[in-house]
Amino acid sequence: MDQEPLLDVRDLYLSVQTHQGQAHILDGVSFSLRKGKVTCLVGESGCGKSVTSLTIMGLQHPIVKGKRTALTATGEILFQQQNLLDLTDQEMESLRGNQIAMVFQEPMTSLNPVLTIGEQLAEAVRTHHPELAESDIETKVLATLEKVQISGQGRLDEYPFQLSGGMRQRIMIAMALINEPQLLIADEPTTALDVTVQAQILTLMKDLQDAHQASILFITHDLGVVAEIADDVVVMYGGHVVESGPVEQVFRDPQHPYLIGLLNSIPRIGEKKSSLETIKGMVPPVTKMPQGCRFNTRCPFATGQCQQKPPRQDHQAGHSSHCWFTPLEKHFAIPNEPTCIAKEKIHA
Ligand SMILES: Nc1ncnc2c1ncn2[C@@H]1O[C@H](COP(=O)(O)OP(=O)(O)OP(=O)(O)O)[C@@H](O)[C@H]1O
Ligand SMILES: [Mg+2]
Repeated sequence: MDQEPLLDVRDLYLSVQTHQGQAHILDGVSFSLRKGKVTCLVGESGCGKSVTSLTIMGLQHPIVKGKRTALTATGEILFQQQNLLDLTDQEMESLRGNQIAMVFQEPMTSLNPVLTIGEQLAEAVRTHHPELAESDIETKVLATLEKVQISGQGRLDEYPFQLSGGMRQRIMIAMALINEPQLLIADEPTTALDVTVQAQILTLMKDLQDAHQASILFITHDLGVVAEIADDVVVMYGGHVVESGPVEQVFRDPQHPYLIGLLNSIPRIGEKKSSLETIKGMVPPVTKMPQGCRFNTRCPFATGQCQQKPPRQDHQAGHSSHCWFTPLEKHFAIPNEPTCIAKEKIHA
């Protein structure tokens, strides 16, 4: 990772005041995005993928159980030599939809139901380029629709409810790309779609990224999707990054017990197993996270040392992980409490 990153997230904390005291939803998240590359942010439900992306966008909505709560973000989100956390709402607004854009999981909630597709796309351009003539805006709208493989003037007059799920997601991608952002964040953009449409959307995003040389932060919990589209991967657990680096390197030689567990839980064609290995237990709620390594309540290798925050270990070519154990120690370690699959095997 020699080139200067497009986005550099450093030691990002997002904290919320709860009845039980302050809880860190994000607990020192650090990662960077290379220019023109796809980075996948991956991890179980509730690990903090969406709040990370919403914090980058300056959109974290502090609502819990219908009530507004005070969220505090500290750390640095460096983009074009500025810390996004220091910008005013107005400055963030001029970046959003322009230099940084986002595609949400459910397009119906982010498209305006009472405006036609043409009006919404034109408005996205007009907001950031008031100097453009209406005819130029229309040309831009049609050209962008063509890029997402939607052709014809007729579509411009349609409303979101008249389109299929896959088509709406294409419109969202068009909307995000229309001002040619340098950074595109896509939060599980394909999970609501069926498999063939998912594949089309993934190919489309990859092609567009090649053409625009934009950096994409692609959020998913699907390791198959990661293997298909990522250049780099960032693995999160409990509001913390446990492992990151170039995807081939990370998947070939996973280091963190959580990622090793995740990869072991994927069924592979041709492999005969009576049952799949799973990571035992559940992610604890943010208010009940353990001290030190947040994975220590589920980790087969955890010892007393894991009550302390683990150090970062650097492996090859930008690959790093956060764990007390070295790879060799993990190889020889005999887990001592039968609370997970690895231990059960040894005690069997
Ligand atoms: N505004 C908020 N205030 C307090 N807690 C929040 C807030 N938003 C999210 N959380 C909590 O932060 C944690 C991370 O949530 P987040 O939505 O980022 O998870 P995720 O990784 O995107 O999960 P999923 O895969 O289900 O989308 C969860 O425990 C969630 O309950
Ligand atoms: Mg999410």
